[in-house]
Amino acid sequence: MSEFEKDVFKIKIDEVNINGEGVGFLQDNIKVCVKNVLPGEVVKVKSIFKKNNFIKAELIEVLESNQNRIKPVCPYFSLCGGCDYQQLKNVDAIKQKKQIFENYFKDIYTKEIEFIDNNKPFEYRNKASFIVKNGKVGFQKEGSNNIVEIENCCIVKPEINKVLSIFRKWLNLTKEENVNHIVIRVLNKKLIITIVCASTIKKVDLLVEKIKECFKDNSFGVYLNFNSSKNKILGDKWKHIYGLKVLEDVFDDVKYSVHPNSFMQINDEVRNILYKSVQEEIKNEVVIEGYSGAGLLSGILCKTAKEVIGVEINKNATENANKLKEENNLTNLQNINGDCKNVLPVLAKKYKSAIFVIDPPRSGCDQNTLQSLKDNYISKVVYVSCNPYTLKQNLRFLSDIFNVEKIKMFNMFPNTSEVETLTVLSRK
Ligand SMILES: C[S@@+](CC[C@H](N)C(=O)[O-])C[C@H]1O[C@@H](n2cnc3c(N)ncnc32)[C@H](O)[C@@H]1O
Repeated sequence: MSEFEKDVFKIKIDEVNINGEGVGFLQDNIKVCVKNVLPGEVVKVKSIFKKNNFIKAELIEVLESNQNRIKPVCPYFSLCGGCDYQQLKNVDAIKQKKQIFENYFKDIYTKEIEFIDNNKPFEYRNKASFIVKNGKVGFQKEGSNNIVEIENCCIVKPEINKVLSIFRKWLNLTKEENVNHIVIRVLNKKLIITIVCASTIKKVDLLVEKIKECFKDNSFGVYLNFNSSKNKILGDKWKHIYGLKVLEDVFDDVKYSVHPNSFMQINDEVRNILYKSVQEEIKNEVVIEGYSGAGLLSGILCKTAKEVIGVEINKNATENANKLKEENNLTNLQNINGDCKNVLPVLAKKYKSAIFVIDPPRSGCDQNTLQSLKDNYISKVVYVSCNPYTLKQNLRFLSDIFNVEKIKMFNMFPNTSEVETLTVLSRK
């Protein structure tokens, strides 16, 4: 029987790819991808998916290990599907991420990429979404329907783990079956807890009482979110149950607030460094900021820019951005609630000398916008991205008209293979 036909087999890992998967080959032409391994390792794996000349496998045992391998801190590592790099010290993980990233972009950008890290690989995430199913609370094992029950996640802020524990006790007590997810977000030591449910739930007051035993009255808020769709975590219907309605903080003298339905970068400290790096790219120009979220970056850019126009599709986020404009008295900020693919091409036509700052979701920047940047002689684009794959596709599309001046990487997601990037493009 060839190795391809066996479910369990041995493989040597040649390299780790941009998704954090180790890659090896069977019989020279069958590609095997497996998570949580390191270059040069020989590992025993189990096939979980096979198609043509491709196998996705899961790690069973490391037979010969890379010299940098360490024992992961977390007992759920490789089970919960969250972290990819706990088998490396942060310093080695950074080296590996940087090398993989530089290699991935080498046909577009040949200079060394600056890698910015704040050396805080644990307790950094300000948000976590846990699945709730059959009385279990945890993360979904990658490629399966199984829930890995989580008592304590070491990359989330400690407040999140406290709420998780209270919620689990409440769930065990009430046997509530209508909850699908619990989403917990922390900012400046305050929390908003969103209970995502198929229909209304009983005894939510008891949950609030239990949270009050641990957190002060004015330090948290609770929402119900109604969602029966399996495709996304949050639905469109919200009901405020208790306490805070938004989370608030100040950065760089800009007061801002975030609704639980608005996007917020998940690592506060690295976000601050990223935003200041974007600001360094702006002098006294008009800035068109696509995918502007709850407006904190817009508020910071307003300090150096002549004028900032933010475009955001999510109504709650635009409301937050309007509140930010008002509370900080930013007369040079305009927030537009709309779809970038319709609004940015119009703005590109009108403001040909503007700098475009874009920070799209993982799916990347829409084609209409990219085309309009080319057609309207836009001279400078600052592109913030959390997905190297779509970033590369979009940069390729722009490459006949724009030069890539600079790429910086930000370790927004330590212990995982993901990175945040800032790319500066200038017209050729
Ligand atoms: C990666 S987040 C960046 C938000 C903001 N720049 C920040 O740092 O918080 C992407 C944002 O794009 C918004 N968005 C997604 N698709 C959009 C579209 N087609 N048009 C406008 N905004 C969109 C999302 O709601 C989200 O707020």
